[in-house]
Amino acid sequence: MSRRNKQSSETDSAATRRQFLKSSIAASGALVAGSSIAHAKADPAIAYVQDWTRYLGDGVNAAPYGKPSEYEKQVVRRNVEWLTASAESSVNFTPLHELDGIITPNGLCFERHHGGVAEVEPDLYRLMINGLVEEPLVFTIDDLKRFPRKNQINFLECAANSGMEWRGAQLNGCQYTHGMVHNVMYTGVPLKILLDQAGLKTNAKWVMAEGGDASGMNRSIPMFKALDDCMIAFKMTGEALRPEQGYPARLVVPGWEGNMWVKWIRRLEVGDEPWHAREETSKYTDLLENGKARRFTWEMDCKSVITNPSPQAPLKHKSGQTVITGLAWSGRGTIKRVDVSLDGGRNWIPARLDGPSLDKSLHRFYYDFDWNGEPLLLQSRAVDSTGQIQPTKTELRNARGYNSIYHNNAIQTWHLKKTGEVENVEVS
Ligand code: MTE
Ligand code: CO
Repeated sequence: MSRRNKQSSETDSAATRRQFLKSSIAASGALVAGSSIAHAKADPAIAYVQDWTRYLGDGVNAAPYGKPSEYEKQVVRRNVEWLTASAESSVNFTPLHELDGIITPNGLCFERHHGGVAEVEPDLYRLMINGLVEEPLVFTIDDLKRFPRKNQINFLECAANSGMEWRGAQLNGCQYTHGMVHNVMYTGVPLKILLDQAGLKTNAKWVMAEGGDASGMNRSIPMFKALDDCMIAFKMTGEALRPEQGYPARLVVPGWEGNMWVKWIRRLEVGDEPWHAREETSKYTDLLENGKARRFTWEMDCKSVITNPSPQAPLKHKSGQTVITGLAWSGRGTIKRVDVSLDGGRNWIPARLDGPSLDKSLHRFYYDFDWNGEPLLLQSRAVDSTGQIQPTKTELRNARGYNSIYHNNAIQTWHLKKTGEVENVEVS
């Protein structure tokens, strides 16, 4: 009999057993010196014969497309009610506090749509290159797969990530304050190869990328970037792009603001000047104190955040051995260093970078320490390979004023309380 069938006949004894386990763990109090880990003799759960050892489990193919454990149901994208004018023009957020390493699982990548998810039929998909080219071309998805392809791991960060925090601490959770970022491996064809196929005219200086969704989103990409490391991707972390990420093909613009990564891409028009599209004039520009706006702020600045502990991921122990972890990234290169502060930025200690250190990708950092159980003001500060240091909120506001939303890369502060709970705060 499988465990699942057995469950209905589970009797009171199981509940009693769980009750017993709870009270015996609480009563034990026997700790291994220097940590808050139980002595082997003090936790009877290790010796208990659990149901999963007594009954056969599900056979193979119970879930032809695998899903996470049923105990991981809280690991989901979430939205913020008041940020959602309509579901079609909205955003949800990556649960950064539930993840580790540097890769974002496909089903957890935040979504940002201006006109809903286009349901593109792959057989009817077309990508056109026109404008200042020798020969305008139209590619099918199968055509795209006949060109030499490459793989690269890149973060995509929406320019509006952390935007709600510009004027003060607001949202309680790194999912909401920093969750408009994801990091996957893209497989696709370098844009250079496709542009070369069409043949660039000598005055070709810009490429306008246009989406095939109802919003018809378009952005101007300077030619130097288009020929450098952009690609038309059709796979993310090995499998086809998800519909919400632009299936069957999207533009990848490493290190640059997410808005330029046009999804459901249908057209690349080559020109000799930028298009001044809505998304690069009234939107995705930064109003300064003097009334002028910064434009074409493409690169995402050096940034980091502590993902654990954080408001949605409080500490469960009261003191002792503790892991602080987080993510750091820069649109200009790799991350050279991350420092952590426990006292709101007065003192800094180098964190440990672990895992691959890739260009324009998320980096994982850890700080392992002995928590004395007292309240702390946790911060992280990243330095990238160009030497750019993540600014404080005060430094950012001194340079750019109070009117901005986009490109907030300021240092985030979490107030860790004695109870282990964590709150989003600001220090001056
Ligand atoms: N492309 C199209 N065609 N339509 C869109 O609404 N949103 C842009 C960009 N590309 C958008 C688009 C914005 S603002 C961002 S931040 C990213 O896609 C989000 O990508 P994601 O949904 O894969 O996270
Ligand atoms: Co965006």
